[in-house]
Amino acid sequence: MLVQGKEVLDKAHRENYAVGAFNVNNMEILQAIISAAEKMKSPVFIQASEGALEYAGLDTLANMMLFAARKSSVPVVVHLDHGKDLEVVKKCIELGFSSVMFDGSHYDFEENVRLTKQVVDMAHPKGISVEAELGTIGGTEDKVTARHIVLTDPDKALEFVQRTQCDSLAIAIGTSHGPNKFQTADAKLDLERLKEIKAKVNVPLVLHGASSVPREEVDKAAHFGAKFAEFYGVPEAQIVEAIKISISKINTDTDLRIAFTAAIREVIIEKPQEFDPRKFLGPAREEIQHLVEHRMTVFGSAGKA
Ligand code: G3H
Ligand code: 13P
Ligand code: ZN
Repeated sequence: MLVQGKEVLDKAHRENYAVGAFNVNNMEILQAIISAAEKMKSPVFIQASEGALEYAGLDTLANMMLFAARKSSVPVVVHLDHGKDLEVVKKCIELGFSSVMFDGSHYDFEENVRLTKQVVDMAHPKGISVEAELGTIGGTEDKVTARHIVLTDPDKALEFVQRTQCDSLAIAIGTSHGPNKFQTADAKLDLERLKEIKAKVNVPLVLHGASSVPREEVDKAAHFGAKFAEFYGVPEAQIVEAIKISISKINTDTDLRIAFTAAIREVIIEKPQEFDPRKFLGPAREEIQHLVEHRMTVFGSAGKA
């Protein structure tokens, strides 16, 4: 069933677990996430970035996601990830997304407040939840780029939430988008800062850039010919610590990308005679489903639907 982001996150916040938010770029990824959520009896966010909406076509991808959410047996939030273009945010609200993120983290504080409040004023009358971002999460993907990490200031976070009335807040505590998260080692989250933010802010907190970059997936991809640089992620033990303190939504995209393409590489190498796309995309879909099921167990959302 399609549910509001606020409903799912307020429950997770109260009961101290996190809901996974997984990025959708095509039909197979969407199906994998929904199947995992149903199998694990877990609530879930399916989210599309502006880059994904541009790639697949906004109407096409949005309607696929809304359809999948409505027919699912578990609570599914259809969410815009890192909305930056107000026209895209508006279109997603009109189409019936149950949550949108406005990412104004690249603006100065006052401009971020002003634009986020504008989105809240557009979304709330329709009952749609708004995630905002304060501080900058590092890293580069297709459309989501920040050269430097600026960690979230706890006092500013309180002022930001009070002035914008956003429903949840993405914070920067040392994570980074993409696979080259940390040049030489796994992430070390600033958990003391998270405690300070939690003490001041009472909306659910969101962790972006949270892929763990599982060694097995990277090694498997490398075994089938991928030429990856050293990849580092956020160790799951740190994610668990962060959830205990107060993280209610966790974004994962990079891990899905690595898993999906690792499965495709395997078919290309092992079955060079194969040319039916379904024979590549089917195993890739299964690989993502396993990964999402695992994340739901780690996040504590399994069984919470
Ligand atoms: O946080 C960003 C997401 O992983 C989406 O990245 O702009 O490459 O689709 P993208
Ligand atoms: P990763 O790149 O670590 O998967 O983060 C994804 C994300 O934050 C999407 O908003
Ligand atoms: Zn993100």
